[in-house]
Amino acid sequence: MDQGEPTVSGSEKTPFLQGKSKPVAFYQRHKVLVIGAAIMICLLPLLGLLALRNRHAHAMNWTSPITYPSPQGYGAGNWSASYDKARVMVGNMSLEEMNNVTLGVPDPSNGCVGVSGGAPRLGFPGFCLHDAGNGVRNTDGVSGFASGIHIGASWNATLAYERAVFMGAEFKRKGVNVALGPVVGPIGRVAEGGRNWEGMGADPYLNGILGAQSVLGLQESVIASVKHFVGNEQETNRNPISNNGDTILSQSANLDDQTMHEMYLWPFQELLRVGAGCVMCSYNRINSTYACENSKAMNGFLKGEMNFQGFVVSDWAGQHSGVPSANAGLDMAMPTTTYWNERQLENAVNSGAVNKTRLIDMATRIIATWYHFGQDQALPLGGGLPANLLMPHNYTEAKDPASRSSLLQQAIEGHVLVKNIRGALPLKQMKVISIFGSDAVQQTSFVPNGGLFPQNWEAITLQGPMLNEIASNSPLSSPPGTMNGTLVVGGGSGSNTPPYISTPFDAIQARTYENGTAIFFDSASTDPAVVSSSEACLVFINEYSSEVWDRPSLADEDSDTLVSNVAAKCNNTIVAVHNAGIRLVDAWIDNPNVTAVLFAHLPGQDAGRALAQILYGDVSPSGRLPYTVAKQASDYGNLLGPCQAHGSKSPRCDFIEGTNIDYRAFLARNITPRYEFGYGLTYTTFVYTNLQFNVNATATPDDAVFPVWTNGTTDQNSNNPAIGSGGLQSLFDSVGIVTASVTNTGNMAAAEVAQLYLQIPASTSNSSNPRTRVLRGFEKIMIEPNSTEQVTFDLRMKDVSYWNVTRQAWIVPIGEFKVFVGKSVLDLPLNGTFSTQT
Ligand code: BGC
Repeated sequence: MDQGEPTVSGSEKTPFLQGKSKPVAFYQRHKVLVIGAAIMICLLPLLGLLALRNRHAHAMNWTSPITYPSPQGYGAGNWSASYDKARVMVGNMSLEEMNNVTLGVPDPSNGCVGVSGGAPRLGFPGFCLHDAGNGVRNTDGVSGFASGIHIGASWNATLAYERAVFMGAEFKRKGVNVALGPVVGPIGRVAEGGRNWEGMGADPYLNGILGAQSVLGLQESVIASVKHFVGNEQETNRNPISNNGDTILSQSANLDDQTMHEMYLWPFQELLRVGAGCVMCSYNRINSTYACENSKAMNGFLKGEMNFQGFVVSDWAGQHSGVPSANAGLDMAMPTTTYWNERQLENAVNSGAVNKTRLIDMATRIIATWYHFGQDQALPLGGGLPANLLMPHNYTEAKDPASRSSLLQQAIEGHVLVKNIRGALPLKQMKVISIFGSDAVQQTSFVPNGGLFPQNWEAITLQGPMLNEIASNSPLSSPPGTMNGTLVVGGGSGSNTPPYISTPFDAIQARTYENGTAIFFDSASTDPAVVSSSEACLVFINEYSSEVWDRPSLADEDSDTLVSNVAAKCNNTIVAVHNAGIRLVDAWIDNPNVTAVLFAHLPGQDAGRALAQILYGDVSPSGRLPYTVAKQASDYGNLLGPCQAHGSKSPRCDFIEGTNIDYRAFLARNITPRYEFGYGLTYTTFVYTNLQFNVNATATPDDAVFPVWTNGTTDQNSNNPAIGSGGLQSLFDSVGIVTASVTNTGNMAAAEVAQLYLQIPASTSNSSNPRTRVLRGFEKIMIEPNSTEQVTFDLRMKDVSYWNVTRQAWIVPIGEFKVFVGKSVLDLPLNGTFSTQT
C-alpha cells in the first residue's frame, strides 16, 4: 500500500451493510417503519461520506510502507570522483572498520556535539559534527548570526547565501566537518511550535529557496546536514518517555502522500538538488514508524525519489533500533549508539540480517561525502572547539572581519514594520525619549554554566521541575514565554554564541551623543513612570522560544500590560518585539497611542545597532512576515498548538489540513488575519504595473512514463540519466517567466519584496481541503525614489506541478492557472491567467 493512501477499516464499513435482508411478513406489517428505516440506511453512507470528507483523516490507517532495499549511492553527477575514491578506501576496510565509521564515539578532547568513528589505518579521522544553522554554538571566537526566521523575514536569497558562506568558514576554522543545519523542518505547521524560529518561515517554497542558498554557502567550507527529516513539527512528545517499564512513543506525524510531497518534502528536495551532503532524520515518527528507521522516508523518498548521494545521520539519540534502522537507510548513529556499537552491524552482516552491500553503502556514503566536500583537507577534528571553556585552552579565532557588514545587514533585513501612523518612524530630532522593557537591555549574564553553554537557556530561569521534565523528555508544565534581556537568538541546539550583544538601549544611547536627545528609562517595571516631555516612548518586549518545548502562548501578558500602560501615558508609543515566532498584538494594536510596531525577530549580535538604523531612518525597513499574524489565537484553529498525547502511549498528530497551513489555512477558511504572510511596511510606497508572462508549460500527457520508486525497485537511479541530485532533473527545467514593474513613488530609497503566487487548478487536490494560492516566486529589489525596476520570476516545472498520488509523479495539470503579483499574499494588485498546453 502506498503511504497515505486512505484505507477505511472494515469496522467503519459495517454500518453501511446492515439491514440488507428483511422478511417479507415483517415488511408488510411495518411498512412505514421499514421504508423509513430504508431511507435512513440509504442516507447513512452519504452522511458517512460527508463526515469522511471533513474528517477523513480520522479513518485513515496511518502506516508507513516498507521500502527495501536501500538504494546505494553511486556517485550521481559531480559525485562520481568522490565515489571512486571512497570505493577504494572502503574496499580496504574490514567489516569492523565499516561498522566503526557509522557510529558516534565519545571524544572528551573537544567540544564537538558529535564525533564519528574513524578508520585511522586508512587515513579517515572521522567527523566532528556540530550545531547548528544559526552559527557555531557553544564556544568562543565565533559570530552570532541572524536566526533562520530572521533570514526568512529578509526574503533575501543573496543574503542567505552570504550569511552561510561566512558561517561555514567559521565552522571550518573551528575544525567542524559537518554543520548541523540549516533547518527546513519544522516549517511552522503549528503556530506555537518551539523550533519554528530555526527555519525560514511557514512556506515550503520560501524555505526551499533560502535553505538551498544556505546549503550552497555552508558547503563552500563544510558539509551541511539539513534537518529534521521529516514531519518534525512540534516539540511536545518529541522523544519517547520511559517510566517504570512503560514507554510513551514519540509523536507520530500522520500525513498523506500529497501533503508529504507538496509541503514537507518540498524544501528538502530543493536543498538536495543543490547537493546537500548530509540529512538528519528526525525524532518524530512518520505514519507510525520512527523517522530514523522509516524505510519509506529514507530509502523511498530520500535515496530513491530524491536520489540523495550523501549520508543520513540520526538526530541525537533518535535511533531506536539496530537492524531495522540500518535496512531503512540510516547511515550514521549519533551521538553514540547501543544498537550498532560492539560490532553489532558487523555481526548483523555475518548473520545475514543486514546485507553486506548495505554496510558497504553506509561506509561509502560517509567517505564519499568526506572527499566530496574536501574534508580530507580539513583542520584537526574539533581542534578549535575546547571541551570546556572554563579550562585553559588555545583560543581559535573563527570570526572574519570581512563578515561584519554582512552580520549587520542580516540583522537589519529581518525587521518587519507592521504599523506606522502619524509619521512615527523614522524618528525625528527629539529632545526627550523614554525607553522601557527588559528586552531593551543586556541580559544579566552570558557565561557558560558548568563549562559550556549547555543549551543556551542560561538567560531563562528554568525551575527544578522543568529541568526534571526535560531530563525525562516530558512536556514542560509551565514553559517560559519571555527572556530577561535583549533576545537575539532562540534556545536549544539552534542557539549561537554571539561575541557581544548590541542592545537597543546601547545603540540608541550611542546616538544621543550625536543628537543631544535625553533618555529616561525603566527596564524592570510593567507600569513605568513616563516623563511627560517624552516625544517618543520606545517599548522593547520579546517572545522566547526554544527547542525541547512548544511555546505556552503567542503573547505574554506582562509584555502586553507594559505596552498598554506606557501607551496610556505616552501618545507616541513605539513597540519593538524580538520575537522567536509568531507574536499576537491585538491586546494593544488598535490603541491610537501605539504609533509604530516592529517585529524585530532574532537579529543576532547586531540587534540594537540594526534597529537603531531603522528607527533613525538610515535605512528603510525591508523585512516581510514569513508567517501569518492572526487577530486572536483561536484563528489558528487546530494549528495553534501541538498535538497532545492525552494519555496515549502512541501519541499521534494527524495533518488533516493537508497543505493548508499558515496563510493557506487562513485563505481556505476565509479568516482575515491581523497581518498576512508577506506583509511589511517601508518608509516609501511602491506601485505595481505591467504584469507580463511568457509561460510555456505543457500539461503532462496521460501516457507519460515516470520512474516509480516502490518496493524493491529503488536501485534504478544509476541507470537513468534523467535523474540527478534532488531526483528527476526535468522538474527543475524552466517553463517560463513572469515579469512586473515596480515603481518607488515615495521619497526614500527602499527595498521591495515582490511576490508571485499561483493558484494551481483546484482539481489537483486529493484531499477535501481546498487549494489556495501558493508562493511560487519572490524577488527583493532596491529601488530609488521615482525609479521603476522590473522584477522577474522564473517558473520551473515543479512550480506548476502537483503530486499525483496514483501516478506517483509530479504532474503539470491541464487547465487554467491564476497568477498574482504584489506585496503580500493579500495585497496582489496584478493578476492574470495562463493555461497549460496539451
Ligand atoms: C536536535 C538537533 C541537534 C542535535 C545535536 C538534537 O536534540 O534536535 O537539531 O543538531 O540535538 O545537538
